Amino acid sequence: MKSKLVLDEAAMDRLAYTFDDLLLRPGYAELLLNQVNIETFFSRNIPLKIPIVSAAMDTVTEYELAIELAKAGGIGVIHRNLDPETQALHVARVKHHLNGLIEKPICVYKNQTIEQIKNMREQKGYGFHSFPVINPVNRSLVGILTGNDFEFCSNISQTAEEVMSTKVLTGSTECTFAEAYQKMREEKIKVLPLIDNEGKIHGMYVLSDVKRIIEGNIGAYNVDSKNRLRVAAAIGVREDAFERLEILVAENVDVVVIDTAHADSRSVIETLKDLKKNYDLDIVVGNISMPESAKRLADAGADGIKVGQGPGSICTTRVVSGAGRPQISAIYDCAKAIELLNIPICADGGIRYSGDITKAIAAGAHSVMLGSLLAGTEESPGETVPLQGKKWKDYRGMGSLGAMLESKGSRSRYLQDSTEKKKLVPEGVEGLVLCKGKLADKVLEYTGGLRSGMGYVGAASIEELREKGDFDRITDAGKLESKPHGILITKEAPNYREED
Ligand code: IMP
Repeated sequence: MKSKLVLDEAAMDRLAYTFDDLLLRPGYAELLLNQVNIETFFSRNIPLKIPIVSAAMDTVTEYELAIELAKAGGIGVIHRNLDPETQALHVARVKHHLNGLIEKPICVYKNQTIEQIKNMREQKGYGFHSFPVINPVNRSLVGILTGNDFEFCSNISQTAEEVMSTKVLTGSTECTFAEAYQKMREEKIKVLPLIDNEGKIHGMYVLSDVKRIIEGNIGAYNVDSKNRLRVAAAIGVREDAFERLEILVAENVDVVVIDTAHADSRSVIETLKDLKKNYDLDIVVGNISMPESAKRLADAGADGIKVGQGPGSICTTRVVSGAGRPQISAIYDCAKAIELLNIPICADGGIRYSGDITKAIAAGAHSVMLGSLLAGTEESPGETVPLQGKKWKDYRGMGSLGAMLESKGSRSRYLQDSTEKKKLVPEGVEGLVLCKGKLADKVLEYTGGLRSGMGYVGAASIEELREKGDFDRITDAGKLESKPHGILITKEAPNYREED
């Protein structure tokens, strides 16, 4: 990454800048905005189609938002104010959303009755009707039960074997998603079990799911090698980390984030090293804001580093504790410190406009983590609250009093363990944000602003923006000039609002 003069000079004077202090300098450009490539990485092995990651907060990321964000090309980090089992369930719902390949299809035994199977379906809440039927002795596939078999069965005490279709078309364990789709269309079948040489079932494709993927804009989705949406999850340190990781890995989580307010600490570094010894999984670690901290986390094996101490919109860390660092200088210093190590940086917090995303990346980040810009979307957790003729949704800091009182996860993020209200030291506030509509529309707006910024800088890719992006320091007069002035705005622009 090229040196950025204003940031280097400021550092000599121990002066640190944030978003509004700086503006990107325009440069020669040849590209149309839709030719700009905004693919990047969240961690060493986890790519993103857009550089947007959602915050691990209980008013931002649960499975609904993580699904929509992965479909838009980003990744959601499921928060950790959920007990480990529930958090893993959220991960599973994201991973199963597309169901390109059902790895472990629910099978029934040939001697089970239709009544038993119907009861089991109801109890477990399964929404599907197709069940491979297997022999209980050697577990080989003997037939298939479909919706029709249930519907036309007049005697529910009959066994699966008596009702099932025995003509089952199957694929080999090597059968790809595209081959399965072709076969199902040619043969007009709705499910395709995959079996090995001994006739044992090793997976199943379902036409409706495969069609949904093919007909959806899967090219834009952030999916893993098995066409499942990617998802991340937040973990704590020590026992919490191990307890969560065990079940998150079983649900195929793509990457985990050690989620703390101060990651340059012994407990985080020891946890990171222990996890890397035991798991073959990318681990992103945060948060930090100093270059030496970035080096320490890199040395300890981090696959991605999250930068941001105190910039968040709900954050009171800096006023309560007196510590933190303005975000652009923090990003730049950390990125420079680990420049040659191929460890992506995620800039976390403080992003209020799409232009801030461009600035964060130009300062050295590979992706940004958004809290307030995604809170209040239709897919964020929580109910809408009507107030003063508008619709709102809760948005609160994970270190707010409410979050800390409710969850051990929140307390441990801020190194606290008391459950007594008086003894807690909150580092965040609780409030409301205006409802913003669909996440997909907001993401399009944010990436649109980023593309526009890349157009001005003349950067064709995220890497080029990191390289070419250079800043001017601006004055108060420059700041005033940068926003609409001398006008009473009568029609709100979709991507600009007056500062609240
Ligand atoms: P935002 O995008 O400016 O709203 O910032 C979101 C980020 O703020 C999150 O990703 C966290 O890193 C950070 N954060 C969340 N809760 C708190 C808190 O209570 N205090 C301080 N920082 C917080």
